[in-house]
Amino acid sequence: MAQSARLSRTLRKGYAKAAMKWSDEYSTGVERIDNQHKMLFRMSEDFRTSLDDGLGDRIYDGLLKSLDMYARSHFRLEENCMASCECPAAKENSGAHRRFMETLREFQDRYSADGFAPGDARELVDYIDRWLSDHIGRIDVQLKPFDAQFKG
Ligand SMILES: [Fe+2]
Ligand SMILES: [Fe+2]
Repeated sequence: MAQSARLSRTLRKGYAKAAMKWSDEYSTGVERIDNQHKMLFRMSEDFRTSLDDGLGDRIYDGLLKSLDMYARSHFRLEENCMASCECPAAKENSGAHRRFMETLREFQDRYSADGFAPGDARELVDYIDRWLSDHIGRIDVQLKPFDAQFKG
């Protein structure tokens, strides 16, 4: 019994996507921002593992709340940094942050209305992973030329 449970878990993992890993290509050079980005990589990885282990329903509610708190605080910090150094990506960054909050709200609304749905949860973690590569890796990193202003 235990063996077949392990086997089915291994099979599920075999089809699961690999977690996104932090690397220097995501570095903005601003330590506080990089640390917060690393936290989002970890949140995504941990949640993907929980989903693969069939435990998504236990932590989805907490994930939605954590993401909401994380995003509000992180976006504020990052938008302030980009505004203060007049980063050319500032406007594109804040527009994308608004759309992230709208998307998150849609997931929250669906959860409030219908409860936990594994397909929705999987979609959310895929969305976050796309955000890590498309947003952090393309827009947030444009802070890099200004990072000296935020040291010390
Ligand atoms: Fe951003
Ligand atoms: Fe960011």
